[in-house]
Amino acid sequence: MNVVNEGIKTDKYKTVSASLEFIDEAMEHALEKISSSLEDFTHAFPDDTTVENRYYIRKPEKPGQDRGGNHGWTTSFWTGMIWLAYEVTADEKYRRAAEVHIDSFHDRIVQKIDCDHHDLGFLYTLSCVSAYKLTGNEKAKEAALMAADHLMSRYFEKAGIIQAWGDLNDPLQRGRIIIDCLMNLPLLYWASEATGDKKYKAAAEKHANNAYRWIVREDASTFHTYFFDPETGDARYGKTHQGYRDDSCWARGQAWGIYGFPLSYKYTGNHEFIQMSEKLAHYFLNRTPADGVVYWDLAFSDDSGEEKDSSSSSIAACGLLELAKYTEIKDSQRYYERAAAAILQDLYTGYSTRNMPESNALLLHGVYAKPENLGVDEGNLWGDYYYMEGLVRLKKNWNLYW
Ligand code: GLY
Repeated sequence: MNVVNEGIKTDKYKTVSASLEFIDEAMEHALEKISSSLEDFTHAFPDDTTVENRYYIRKPEKPGQDRGGNHGWTTSFWTGMIWLAYEVTADEKYRRAAEVHIDSFHDRIVQKIDCDHHDLGFLYTLSCVSAYKLTGNEKAKEAALMAADHLMSRYFEKAGIIQAWGDLNDPLQRGRIIIDCLMNLPLLYWASEATGDKKYKAAAEKHANNAYRWIVREDASTFHTYFFDPETGDARYGKTHQGYRDDSCWARGQAWGIYGFPLSYKYTGNHEFIQMSEKLAHYFLNRTPADGVVYWDLAFSDDSGEEKDSSSSSIAACGLLELAKYTEIKDSQRYYERAAAAILQDLYTGYSTRNMPESNALLLHGVYAKPENLGVDEGNLWGDYYYMEGLVRLKKNWNLYW
């Protein structure tokens, strides 16, 4: 299929550049929030999203799970923020807290607590690969490699896909991939580098190729999820889970694609992933409203009355900064860098908690899953993490955890 490149239809980011002053101010705000949450959330994890703009201790979701325990798919975003804070401040209090989390993530994978899903990539890249890269922590490396092995158990060799959710024999989930998984693949690419065993990378690359071929539509919008026949490898059909309609474009899915494809490029050298990320980025930026932050589905615009999803824009900003490193199109590098910085500035000025001392979040106005009425118009851990990662990327030449 020939995926169209819409090009850039908006002039917004052609001239606007973010001020350096904003970066320091925004970083100070973010660090202040992270620092003041350490006491509450070193030995207990926060919930996925805020409730009325505050994170509380994580609730058990299934029998046997503890209050504040390490379960669900988002705990590592908090750990990742702590590692980022450690990187920019070198303050040992952050390292000590993140090291408590390494023990928790190690226990989680040894005991296989809520590990039967593809989000092991998010979980172990930000908590343990980060720790290993920054401090050489061997326990973190061991945990991350165990997680990579467990993730491989979800790989269907014949189809070349990693099933996202559910039991591998569940007829409702069997053979289903989701675009978010592009962000889980770096755990596998890293595992090949760390062990010298090429099987992890081979699986990740095949999965990325299938996402490239099937999850992106002809107009450069994306399906959230796509079903394959795991026995034959036949591609079946796309379907949404968190988007508005099967044929609309869930904003966060598009953002996962903008960032995820360049990560597969980084490890495979396949430049087609960069070209695809550019097409997705143009589609996203062309539907970004004047205040710099998208609605939760890109079908919506300013007169829709729908909610914004600040997390989609923070993920996209990080993706644009990664994409900027590799684009071969003249002038695009500066355009993507400007767009990312301007989005981060818009997030800080219009969507952060900078004037809300009562909130322990970094960002407001995210949407987790509108169709399920989950975390609607609330802060969420991944939005905060990518916002912080974006600020760190603006501040220094950042070595990726991904
Ligand atoms: N990966 C799940 C989400 O973005 O909500």
